[in-house]
Amino acid sequence: MPTLAIIGAQWGDEGKGKITDYLAEGADMVVRYQGGANAGHTIKIGEEVFALHLLPSGILRKDVMAVIGNGMVLDLDRLEEELEALKEKGISGENLKISDRVNIVLPYHRTLDGAQERSRGAKVVGTTGRGIGPCYADKISREGIRMGDLLDEELLRSRLDLVLPIKERFAASLGENLDIHREKLIAKLLEYGKKYEACVCDTSVLINDAIKAGKNVMFEGAQGTMLDIDYGTYPYVTSSNCTSAGICTGAGVPPSAVQEVVGIVKAYTTRVGAGPFVTELHDDIGETLLKNGGEFGTTTGRARRCGWLDLVVVRHAVRLNGLTSIALTKLDVLNGLSELKVCTAYEIDGEIVRNFPGNYRQLEKAVPVYETLAGWDNWTEKTSKLCAGGFEALPTKMKEYVAYIEKDIGVPVGIISVGKGRNETIDRRQNKW
Ligand code: IMP
Repeated sequence: MPTLAIIGAQWGDEGKGKITDYLAEGADMVVRYQGGANAGHTIKIGEEVFALHLLPSGILRKDVMAVIGNGMVLDLDRLEEELEALKEKGISGENLKISDRVNIVLPYHRTLDGAQERSRGAKVVGTTGRGIGPCYADKISREGIRMGDLLDEELLRSRLDLVLPIKERFAASLGENLDIHREKLIAKLLEYGKKYEACVCDTSVLINDAIKAGKNVMFEGAQGTMLDIDYGTYPYVTSSNCTSAGICTGAGVPPSAVQEVVGIVKAYTTRVGAGPFVTELHDDIGETLLKNGGEFGTTTGRARRCGWLDLVVVRHAVRLNGLTSIALTKLDVLNGLSELKVCTAYEIDGEIVRNFPGNYRQLEKAVPVYETLAGWDNWTEKTSKLCAGGFEALPTKMKEYVAYIEKDIGVPVGIISVGKGRNETIDRRQNKW
């Protein structure tokens, strides 16, 4: 099983950071292929906590090559900050490779992100404000600046000559003055180009060569299926393909390159930002999930909206991504709840719907159809000790919760996570590297 993808199966924040780091053990290469500094991965190694936004989790292991693929949007100011913070913790970052084709997030993208949000009035998307949407929009409208452009002054100048007036006119239409100091911007970008030149290459060649050589390559998804630009809760989504399909265009590999697709599913549901959320709880249980789950954004610090597990969402993710197994995270957060609800379908205008609708007005009307399962008590034992006993040692009702999910979605739960630490994990997968 030399290639493996990790995909968020809900609205992001499913605990991908921990699972990616756990699975990165044994990987030779970890590739990010979409999103940018809007992602937030928290990884705990020993007592040290690392918060990554842009960098692939593999950066923390010096023997793993960490790749920023062409499908990401790269904010070089953020990259600097992140690499500096890692250096302070003794991580060199020398194992980083950057695609020559990745689009660069420029200061005006961040300004436009804010201006566009303000212009939406009550219909804000609730973006992270990191310039992600405007940068992807530029890529698609062929007005982007790519990493390779920073290595070629003439090219960079001619691109900016074309693009800057367009951006200025657009900003003005939103009542915003971009106030771009052209020469200063060019100097900064050329400086970045020089600084990172040694890391920049055609990462598609690098990745495909690694696969051909039988190396273990991991594709690390950011955000989650429900934030996918095509299949998420549009327009309340991010601007990239968070589903496994994004791997092909975002890393430059063929569909046959991905063998295992692990979906990360939180044992309940959360989302940040605006948009429909059928199983959202506005009661004490929602508060408990928020508090016990520490559900505050790694990137923005915003409190996440919390609700019961939605299997309509998870089945949508299974189908779209071709998930071969699930990693079920944060099961410990449900400890002590006397009963648990899982949503198996929606009722919309009196009809039972089992597939996730594309129309968000329908979603706003959807009433969750719940199955109620028994909860389990709080544990008195340390979770790491409990995990040492394997799946069998878990509370019976917890095992029943897992079995219920497996049966409904038709995919095995390969990994169970009951805490932040690496040793608070149970791994039941058949295929491992
Ligand atoms: P953007 O990606 O900043 O454009 O934000 C679009 C939507 O995606 C907003 O609702 C964000 O809160 C959400 N979003 C973006 N990145 C993440 C993430 O890593 N986790 C959860 N939500 C995210």
